[in-house]
Amino acid sequence: MKTTISKLYQDYLKEYRGQCYITNEFGFITYVLQYESESIFIQDIYIDPPHRGQGKTKELIESAIKLGQEAGMSLMVSLVYMASRDKEISLKCALSTGAKIVSMDAQKIILSRRI
Ligand SMILES: CC(C)(COP(=O)(O)OP(=O)(O)OC[C@H]1O[C@@H](n2cnc3c(N)ncnc32)[C@H](O)[C@@H]1OP(=O)(O)O)[C@@H](O)C(=O)NCCC(=O)NCCS
Repeated sequence: MKTTISKLYQDYLKEYRGQCYITNEFGFITYVLQYESESIFIQDIYIDPPHRGQGKTKELIESAIKLGQEAGMSLMVSLVYMASRDKEISLKCALSTGAKIVSMDAQKIILSRRI
């Protein structure tokens, strides 16, 4: 098993950037709870290469959504930046969770799903 993200670094990201983390032996996901819009904003996802293609991303997103629901959120939001590497895979990951495209421009695609 690879080293997981240090607890201190997670604490820093939560306090300074408002980012929450879920980590497990396969990878991690970061998200932000946006109380004004009652939404959970999915940010970064990483799956250790040997464990890719097994639905681990969807599992992490659903775990984050569950925590978002428990915190009172009613919407999941994610962004795919056109400049990002492998943007097609990121878009596929978001769509595979049932999210729909709500807007797009030259820089980004915004997706969301009621939770
Ligand atoms: C992108 C990443 C998180 C996908 O992880 P994964 O565990 O392989 O994803 P899953 O098995 O849960 O697949 C989720 C969906 O994406 C699709 N997908 C995943 N990898 C894919 C690939 N290389 N090519 C095409 N589709 C792919 C799957 O088919 C699935 O869609 P489906 O349910 O409609 O079939 C992983 O490749 C990764 O960590 N990449 C590096 C970091 C990154 O790019 N993160 C995303 C931006 S935040």
